[in-house]
Amino acid sequence: MVKKNACIFISGQGSNLKNLIQKSRDYNFPIKIRLIISNNKKANGIKYAKRNSIPCVIVDTKSRNYEYKIFNEIKRYKISLICLAGYMKILSKKFLNFYKQPIINIHPSLLPKFKGLNTFSRIIKNGEKKAGCTVHYVNEKLDGGNIIVQKTFFLDTDENENSLKFKTQKLEYSAFPEAIIKIYRKN
Ligand code: GRF
Repeated sequence: MVKKNACIFISGQGSNLKNLIQKSRDYNFPIKIRLIISNNKKANGIKYAKRNSIPCVIVDTKSRNYEYKIFNEIKRYKISLICLAGYMKILSKKFLNFYKQPIINIHPSLLPKFKGLNTFSRIIKNGEKKAGCTVHYVNEKLDGGNIIVQKTFFLDTDENENSLKFKTQKLEYSAFPEAIIKIYRKN
């Protein structure tokens, strides 16, 4: 199988990155991770790039043309899929206009509910019965693109933010790879 070149954007822990690196070792998994972008030089996820000899570019989002730098790297590595895995910056309209191939994001809620930040505390406060995660295409609207995969579970009566996060992330590790497989199965 000819694998697509993918780039993973991270900002922090990088557990989804780690999981995708593992999955991508499978001969039948449709992507090869060729590049990692981090906007945080202290992101824990950078260590997975090093361990797996994947080039990692750290960008300084305070510098005016940082997205231009990202775009050049994306071109250099012939990236045909961008996966946002805990990337805490919003991509500009300009970037989305330039990059014509799929960009997908993983979000820790059942979109369209609970877009944006502090998802777990809002889910608990709201007394939700169900939670989960969503992989979706990225467009100009925050957490607003078409849904590719969504996974759900029921909250326990004594659920707290930590347990919710743990259960949600566990589901993310199957949702993200499934979404990637689904994208290429369609084409
Ligand atoms: C995930 O929960 C994802 O849904 C959200 O950010 C978190 C990233 O976690 N967008 P990690 O860096 O992959 O561990």
